[in-house]
Amino acid sequence: MKNDPLPRLDLNPEARRALLDFCRLRPGEIWEDPAGLHRVGCLDATRAEHVERLMDHAQANLAIQDPPYNLVAFNQRELADYLRWSERWVRLTVDCLANDSSLYVWLGADQRNGFQPLPDFMIMMRGIKDLMPRSFITMRNQRGYGTQKNWMCIRQELLYYSKGNPFFAVQYTDIPKILRGYYKEVNGQITENLERTKSSNIRPGNVWVDVQQIFYRMEENVSGCYAQKPLKAIERIVSASSSPGDLVIDFFTHSGTTLLACERLGRKCFTADVDPVFSEIAVRRLERFRQTGLLGWRNASPFEEIGRPRVAA
Ligand SMILES: C[S@@+](CC[C@H](N)C(=O)[O-])C[C@H]1O[C@@H](n2cnc3c(N)ncnc32)[C@H](O)[C@@H]1O
Repeated sequence: MKNDPLPRLDLNPEARRALLDFCRLRPGEIWEDPAGLHRVGCLDATRAEHVERLMDHAQANLAIQDPPYNLVAFNQRELADYLRWSERWVRLTVDCLANDSSLYVWLGADQRNGFQPLPDFMIMMRGIKDLMPRSFITMRNQRGYGTQKNWMCIRQELLYYSKGNPFFAVQYTDIPKILRGYYKEVNGQITENLERTKSSNIRPGNVWVDVQQIFYRMEENVSGCYAQKPLKAIERIVSASSSPGDLVIDFFTHSGTTLLACERLGRKCFTADVDPVFSEIAVRRLERFRQTGLLGWRNASPFEEIGRPRVAA
């Protein structure tokens, strides 16, 4: 395999444009999985007619949404505009969800800029009928931003909402339980927490410290992608909040992590990205996994056929 990774496509519009001719989907089109399981669209999450076509009357048991966080200066909207935009895809998502289902949303809180957009997004979500807030999860990143005069920002926020009374399966980390104590009386006997436990490992709870952030040396790395979530985090969500055979949706597919997690865990996935390059990368990631068992490209390119793309200086 050639060692010619794509550059970050958000920072290299020229390299991104060079890939467009190699993308099978045009805006508005949908790839149907020949295995009859998944769908990948080149669609806009805020357009009702796009979402309706992707769903084709199906209802999902779980939505995992990872929108742009409105943090990148050159692409930043006014906060009020970002919230109006968010409300559109949130309402469309809720319409796609079955009665007892779950919605997870990844979001950022910029400590350099009023912690936006997280607090305003949370308040906007209070106004969405049918959704109940359930958990506010923080995943610890290894890298972050900060100065010598402030705490390093290494958080990734993940909001969990339910519609109705959804399925939930407790998950465990690989971290062994070591603390003794927490005595409690059970059936007249004083028990110690290690006796009561269902697992010898701890639960992730709502602070996830055990997930490695993606970087180029990881097997699952997809070069060119600038916002890829770790498969371990997405598989944790899929395992906790859906059952085999369920339908999972993700309208911001990017590197296709939710799609891959669903393939590995026996769920169906309907996913999309507004950018044809990312819809293509998601499909290629699934196809490659099916052919080789590999999770990503590590330090190679998902578009190997065109060699090293030109990179802006
Ligand atoms: C933060 S990334 C998602 C990362 C993904 N969870 C992963 O693990 O690779 C956000 C993606 O949303 C896409 N996007 C932005 N606006 C969109 C819209 N209106 N509809 C659909 N996708 C959109 C971007 O092109 C980008 O690929």
